Amino acid sequence: MKTPDFSTAPPFSREGPTETPSGQSISEPSVVISGTGHYLPHKVLTNTDLTKIVDTNEEWILTRTGISERRIAEPTETSGTMATEAARMAIANANLQAEDIDLVIVATITPDQPFPATACYVQTTLGMRTIAAFDVEAACSGFLYILDIAHAMVRNGPYRHALIIGTEKLSAITDWQDRSTCILFGDGAGAAVLSRSSFSGKKTGILDTTLGADGANGHILQMPGGGCRIPATPDSITSRQHFLKMNGREVFKLAVKVMEKASLDILARNHLQADEIHSIIPHQANIRIIEMLSSRLEIPMERFFINLDQYGNTSAASIPIALHEARESGFCPSGAYSILVGFGAGLTWGATLIRWP
Ligand SMILES: CC(C)(COP(=O)(O)OP(=O)(O)OC[C@H]1O[C@@H](n2cnc3c(N)ncnc32)[C@H](O)[C@@H]1OP(=O)(O)O)[C@@H](O)C(=O)NCCC(=O)NCCS
Repeated sequence: MKTPDFSTAPPFSREGPTETPSGQSISEPSVVISGTGHYLPHKVLTNTDLTKIVDTNEEWILTRTGISERRIAEPTETSGTMATEAARMAIANANLQAEDIDLVIVATITPDQPFPATACYVQTTLGMRTIAAFDVEAACSGFLYILDIAHAMVRNGPYRHALIIGTEKLSAITDWQDRSTCILFGDGAGAAVLSRSSFSGKKTGILDTTLGADGANGHILQMPGGGCRIPATPDSITSRQHFLKMNGREVFKLAVKVMEKASLDILARNHLQADEIHSIIPHQANIRIIEMLSSRLEIPMERFFINLDQYGNTSAASIPIALHEARESGFCPSGAYSILVGFGAGLTWGATLIRWP
């Protein structure tokens, strides 16, 4: 049997070869963000409100985190209901109908219930076809994880339009007696529709994603109870095991490190310099983390999209909420490069490079 000759094959690319060995260009699909949406609960919890709940003050919260206020869901609002509203907006924004969607993926650490998946709730509530629907848990990096999964599924077919949603009701797992964490988090949902399209000339859409995880640092940000290791018992409830626990200083240090690495990796493997990036849409955890990232990447703060002052950290919802507001405010002009970058419990992290059509 003749051995295949790979010597003239184009170099490996996650996007596949763009030309044949003889130099002819190959028409290949690209995956674009065709629509975005978000939902924020109406109830606002300000730093002043928090001084009535825990021993803190407005100045401390604002200077240490950059957060002024956050949104808190009503008892009737859940991750599922908020996801549904964000999804409705994203589908309309993409000029599509619910029945056009071929796949739904939800990222959340606060699903409506352990199972069935919140994605299945969204699918039926919006009246979609009986398409694939599932949840992914990668904490605050969750949206970047589902974006990469959906990108691969849409690019390789048969899915044409994927709906991806980050949604969180973090107020349900926040320990309102712990002043070091309860000041940080908020509720909300953000969604995007990824669609397959052909391209000619310069490639646009989602160009590349890098993801990572380091389970050895899982203990620095976690909710110990509620899984099969510590199921709900009177003891687990009394000892507050069903709330989020965090070593803030450790998370801070690692967040800066992994977001810098993810950003530099995605720049290097796409042969781009930092000054070619028009905008960065980071996970909205703490303004000081973003300022350190800005200084390390030598990308000025004006190019970072910031809304954490209004919403706090909404975990998996943070990047898609910011993405929607960034697109709406002209932060993502045609032809420009943007990077989405985030980190979260796990420890997990990721970065996605986009060129806007
Ligand atoms: C949580 C965070 C704001 C704390 O800021 P910090 O500068 O690291 O503060 P420290 O934890 O060192 O605490 C400093 C002091 O403030 C106190 N403090 C903590 N929370 C406070 C609050 N809400 N109000 C007033 N004082 C507070 C501490 O008790 C400590 O007092 P001490 O020096 O007397 O012991 C910061 O570590 C952080 O943002 N970390 C990353 C968290 C994150 O992004 N998590 C989500 C990941 S997706």
